[in-house]
Amino acid sequence: MKTLQVYSVIFSIIVTALACELRETNEEIQSKRHVEEYINKTRPFVVDNPRYRLHYHIAPPVGWINDPAGFTYYKENYHVFYEYNPFNTSYGKTHWGHVISKDLVTWTQLPMALIPEEELCFSGSAIEIEGTLVLMYTAHKKNESSFNETQYLAFSNDGVVFNKYVKNPVISFANNNSLDFRDPKVWRHGDRYYVVIGSRSSDDKGRVLLYKSKDMEYWEYVSEIAKNNGDLGYMWECPDFFELNGRFVLLISPQGLTNKTTDRYQNQYQVGYIIGTFDYATGNFKEEIAFQELDYGHDFYTTQTLEHEGIRHLIGWMGTWYAIFPEREDGWAGAMTITRQLTLNGDRILMKPVQAIENLRGPPIFDGYLEPDNIISLNQTGELIITVNLTEDLILNIRGENDISLIILKWDMATKKVVLDRNGEIRQGEWKPVLSTSWRVFLDASSIEVFCGEGEMTFTSRVYPNGMWRVVNMSVQAVNVTAYALYRSVPL
Ligand SMILES: *[C@@H]1O[C@H](CO)[C@@H](O)[C@H](O)[C@H]1NC(C)=O
Ligand SMILES: *[C@@H]1O[C@H](CO)[C@@H](O)[C@H](O)[C@H]1NC(C)=O
Ligand SMILES: *[C@@H]1O[C@H](CO)[C@@H](O)[C@H](O)[C@H]1NC(C)=O
Ligand SMILES: *[C@@H]1O[C@H](CO)[C@@H](O)[C@H](O)[C@H]1NC(C)=O
Ligand SMILES: *[C@@H]1O[C@H](CO)[C@@H](O)[C@H](O)[C@H]1NC(C)=O
Ligand SMILES: *[C@@H]1O[C@H](CO)[C@@H](O)[C@H](O)[C@H]1NC(C)=O
Ligand SMILES: *[C@@H]1O[C@H](CO)[C@@H](O)[C@H](O)[C@H]1NC(C)=O
Ligand SMILES: *[C@@H]1O[C@H](CO)[C@@H](O)[C@H](O)[C@H]1NC(C)=O
Ligand SMILES: *[C@@H]1O[C@H](CO)[C@@H](O)[C@H](O)[C@H]1NC(C)=O
Ligand SMILES: *[C@@H]1O[C@H](CO)[C@@H](O)[C@H](O)[C@H]1NC(C)=O
Repeated sequence: MKTLQVYSVIFSIIVTALACELRETNEEIQSKRHVEEYINKTRPFVVDNPRYRLHYHIAPPVGWINDPAGFTYYKENYHVFYEYNPFNTSYGKTHWGHVISKDLVTWTQLPMALIPEEELCFSGSAIEIEGTLVLMYTAHKKNESSFNETQYLAFSNDGVVFNKYVKNPVISFANNNSLDFRDPKVWRHGDRYYVVIGSRSSDDKGRVLLYKSKDMEYWEYVSEIAKNNGDLGYMWECPDFFELNGRFVLLISPQGLTNKTTDRYQNQYQVGYIIGTFDYATGNFKEEIAFQELDYGHDFYTTQTLEHEGIRHLIGWMGTWYAIFPEREDGWAGAMTITRQLTLNGDRILMKPVQAIENLRGPPIFDGYLEPDNIISLNQTGELIITVNLTEDLILNIRGENDISLIILKWDMATKKVVLDRNGEIRQGEWKPVLSTSWRVFLDASSIEVFCGEGEMTFTSRVYPNGMWRVVNMSVQAVNVTAYALYRSVPL
């Protein structure tokens, strides 16, 4: 207890010292205002074109969104930041957008947290230090021939306005100086801060580098905690490193994984995890369970987690780089997944929807067995709870009222697989229920998320229905379904 108090004093001195050297130039203030004005001016077009506009997923007010960042709890709010280009529905001038929530379900938009100056503001993380919210992010600088990635700090005392640190960068090159060096995820352990950073080695292997510091400014290289020593790609983005049920989990977003022969790794890039043991004294992470992909859907790349009140939450980008994003015509592109709660079951992570999402439910729309001619009519949102009889096939046709087909969600008894068929693009995997044999299916205006059983298998995909949702029984088995509409919890 006493030791903790001493540390607190030291931390507070450090932050006070750092905070004296903040800057927000007039130019920066002007740019922030300019961005907010631009958003206000272009918002009506988005609001007037709501066909794909999500009701309970974080999405950009206008423009382009990708990686989540800075997932943290500060001054009684959860904070999520995201890589954001307000000026285009394609990736470009990367800012940090910012939303907050009391319950991880209902989100309020805040002003731009970081604007690019000489650097693009790539992903990173956040940590509270004695009342100050500290962001650590990757400054990406590029010219025609090359680019450079270093790690920057920014500070806020109210969780709204952020000032960059004058002495940036705080980590200026990767060990062995590889170019790709990004997405710092910082945490505190004992009297030290630690950060893991994604990297590409000079021999083109994905790897994760670990650094430590006692003041967030001077960082000491500790170790390469993991590296691709086989077929796990050339670059590992968005690393996250945490304890879950007493074991250490390294969560990564690898690029260049070529092993697409099985049901796994069907997307352009992946998100997955390695389970092992870790020794803070040596910085040695020892792999026990090899890389496993986290989600089975079409659109799931880059994630970040936060532990608060003993629960480890995850939020991810519900997107991929090569997707078409039909909502671009409506002035925006991309979204985050709903927040999930992580636990470990044996060697596998379970992902469940955060509990508070149940508060969005309206009265049940359907409750009972789907008869041959039954169609469940939803509007733009819905949650279906489906009890699966594993001894027979189950087939549901999920589509817009004006579609002939769109999604087929299936339990294939012969192969023991759950199948999500999006217009012929199949994603599937063998399902061995750990306990419950039901599915929770979340439909929003342009997305579907399926959680099987206790969350041992999930599918996250963008889908674009023509009209309101319809769910049609095509099964052999009598399908037991409870369905709810879900209320809006994000700004239109
Ligand atoms: C943008 O609109 C919001 C909400 O209407 C308003 O609070 C804010 O002042 C506006 N910002 C600018 C820079 O016009
Ligand atoms: C938006 O991004 C696209 C693709 O990068 C580019 O071709 C286009 O010029 C950009 N538009 C604006 C207004 O910057
Ligand atoms: C481009 O950026 C790289 C990396 O920062 C730098 O080494 C190089 O000198 C720059 N080239 C030009 C033409 O500015
Ligand atoms: C750095 O490079 C040296 C020399 O090529 C190599 O022996 C060493 O393993 C590398 N270290 C890391 C962390 O990549
Ligand atoms: C990036 O720029 C920093 C200076 O800010 C420099 O120390 C570092 O070596 C550069 N990295 C590469 C890979 O050139
Ligand atoms: C790739 O496939 C081979 C053969 O099926 C397997 O041994 C290896 O573990 C796979 N690699 C990954 C990263 O899953
Ligand atoms: C729908 O469900 C019923 C049982 O409630 C079943 O008899 C019927 O064959 C199912 N399939 C179709 C295509 O209607
Ligand atoms: C769908 O919208 C219509 C028209 O606004 C409304 O009457 C109906 O109750 C809604 N249905 C559901 C399931 O929310
Ligand atoms: C599952 O289906 C089989 C075959 O139709 C039936 O005998 C059994 O009662 C069903 N189980 C449940 C829990 O509905
Ligand atoms: C139908 O599903 C609900 C949960 O949605 C469950 O409570 C109920 O027991 C199920 N009915 C049968 C007969 O399996």
